[in-house]
Amino acid sequence: MEDRIAVIGAGIMGGAIIKSLKKSGCTSKIIATDIRPKRLKELEKLGVSITSNNLEAATNADIIFISVKPSDIKNVMKTIKEKVDGKMVISVAATVPLKFLSKFIPEAKIIRIMPNVAALVQASYTAYCCGEKVTPKDKKKAIELLNLFGRCEEVKEKYMDAITALSGSGPGYLSIIIEGLMYAGLKVGLPRNIALNSAAQTVLGTGKLVLDLPIHPAKIKDMVTTPGGTTIEAIYELEGSQIRQALMNAVEEATKKSQIIREKLKV
Ligand SMILES: NC(=O)c1ccc[n+]([C@@H]2O[C@H](COP(=O)([O-])OP(=O)(O)OC[C@H]3O[C@@H](n4cnc5c(N)ncnc54)[C@H](OP(=O)(O)O)[C@@H]3O)[C@@H](O)[C@H]2O)c1
Repeated sequence: MEDRIAVIGAGIMGGAIIKSLKKSGCTSKIIATDIRPKRLKELEKLGVSITSNNLEAATNADIIFISVKPSDIKNVMKTIKEKVDGKMVISVAATVPLKFLSKFIPEAKIIRIMPNVAALVQASYTAYCCGEKVTPKDKKKAIELLNLFGRCEEVKEKYMDAITALSGSGPGYLSIIIEGLMYAGLKVGLPRNIALNSAAQTVLGTGKLVLDLPIHPAKIKDMVTTPGGTTIEAIYELEGSQIRQALMNAVEEATKKSQIIREKLKV
């Protein structure tokens, strides 16, 4: 891809996007901006141009990722609006709708995405939805780019809060599961590294089974459960813990929080 890429806001997610682009061999010129010089210094070592000037970055790019917190979006939009007509602007910000973004940059090709931090290892689930100015050719280009972070999928914008709650925040929940499994391994006497590796790889492998075969999780559960065997003893304990209800409640609360944040920010 020959397009020049700017990433405005080089924090956790912006940094993950840049590192992912670099790791996947993307040859585009990348320019990163942030108000924290320390964050930029680290990225400069990867061969990325850096600046604290968002307008300069937007001027010198064809594709602009905006990866600042939702509360900083308005400020960034006002700064770059003169220089993004006809360019692709990809917003990573949770809760901020396409309609709000297009008020500031009506002539830009706006795409709203919700990746997750697994972009760092090219394993993000990235949902995207497109603004009115995005053509099929632009969409093709965006998909090519988003596939470098992992797996991407177009969704209706009305699902973005739920996606944010499920896969955007999901690495947080699964870290609890992996940590829980690791402690379980310790409890039954496994060395720490073996407990952690076996827990993490088992979560990864189960996800791959679901996606690659593809196969429904209930079927995997059947495949590993022998009548009167060991797995059913563990599943019996898990069912009693209402683990599914806990996950459903967690994602529902996080979805509601997106709506609350949007109302507060008036975006
Ligand atoms: N983290 C995730 O797992 C994740 C997942 C999906 C989506 N997102 C979305 O990604 C966006 C960024 O989240 P994050 O977790 O990466 O936040 P973050 O680590 O705080 O990164 C944002 C960076 O942008 C800087 N910044 C603030 N105003 C700026 C401006 N005007 N120009 C340039 N840089 C500016 C911030 O500096 P200060 O800290 O000094 O303000 C910070 O370094 C959010 O909208 C979030 O909803 C995050």
